[in-house]
Amino acid sequence: MSLAAAPLDSQREFPLTAEDFGFLARLVHENTGIVLSEHKANMVYSRLARRLRELHLTSFQAYCARLRGPQGEEELGALINAITTNLTRFFREGHHFEHLARQVLPRFAEAPRGTRLRLWSAGCSSGEEPYSIAMTMGECLPQLERLDARILATDLDTGMVARASAALYPASSLQDLDQARRERWFKPAANQAGFLVDPALRARVTFKKLNLLDAWPMQGLFDAIFCRNVMIYFDGPTKDELIERFADCLKPGGWLYIGHSETLLDQRRIFVPAGRTIYRKASP
Ligand SMILES: C[S@@+](CC[C@H](N)C(=O)[O-])C[C@H]1O[C@@H](n2cnc3c(N)ncnc32)[C@H](O)[C@@H]1O
Repeated sequence: MSLAAAPLDSQREFPLTAEDFGFLARLVHENTGIVLSEHKANMVYSRLARRLRELHLTSFQAYCARLRGPQGEEELGALINAITTNLTRFFREGHHFEHLARQVLPRFAEAPRGTRLRLWSAGCSSGEEPYSIAMTMGECLPQLERLDARILATDLDTGMVARASAALYPASSLQDLDQARRERWFKPAANQAGFLVDPALRARVTFKKLNLLDAWPMQGLFDAIFCRNVMIYFDGPTKDELIERFADCLKPGGWLYIGHSETLLDQRRIFVPAGRTIYRKASP
């Protein structure tokens, strides 16, 4: 047996060979930018095993054949949804929201009626991040209705976009919020199904499926972009290109918030460090 065909773990329900893994890793990388090195084989196995059961397949080889076949395009979406890591929570990395509240939003407090304010949560997962931005806006800008203020929230995982749009969260997700925020921004859903985000807050956020590797249809520049804990899964060139594209769609002096384990070392020409994992687009 060639090395490529050797099973990564023969004791399991579904055989996964290095060849199958290599095919899946290439497909995921080409379509999402996410790098799956071989030490992620266990993760890939556990995330896809349920899908194989759903499809009544008996091996990863059969799953790869499905991805290569006429149903491949459709299955690719399911593969991507299974592979993405969607971990998030309300006000994760709280210093970003404090910065937004203290440095970015106050200048809009006295802005003329109809002033445009645009924020983008790129890689929004199940919506906790854009709703945290919206809560911060609602708390900092008492006259928010006077502004043309909107948040765009995008993710390539269609399951996450659907969950975020539903705006329904279990009580456990609200644990990190203080009581004032819980009472102000959430209402119990019928049948004790969880808590629904306040409709006014929901109305500020537009959710869309968007792969960051594809063309971006948005027009107009953003005041701030949150792209946190997304680029860690990408290779260097993909990340570098993305940062340049973020710069192109930020206003001069606009803000970029990135995740706690990320850094912009090679982009100091376009982004000036402005705090812990906070960068400001250099003015020309
Ligand atoms: C770990 S979550 C981060 C959520 C949130 N930004 C936070 O920090 O709490 C990463 C998200 O990035 C999304 N993602 C990964 N690759 C992407 C791509 N190429 N385009 C758009 N979103 C992507 C995943 O689907 C996932 O929901």
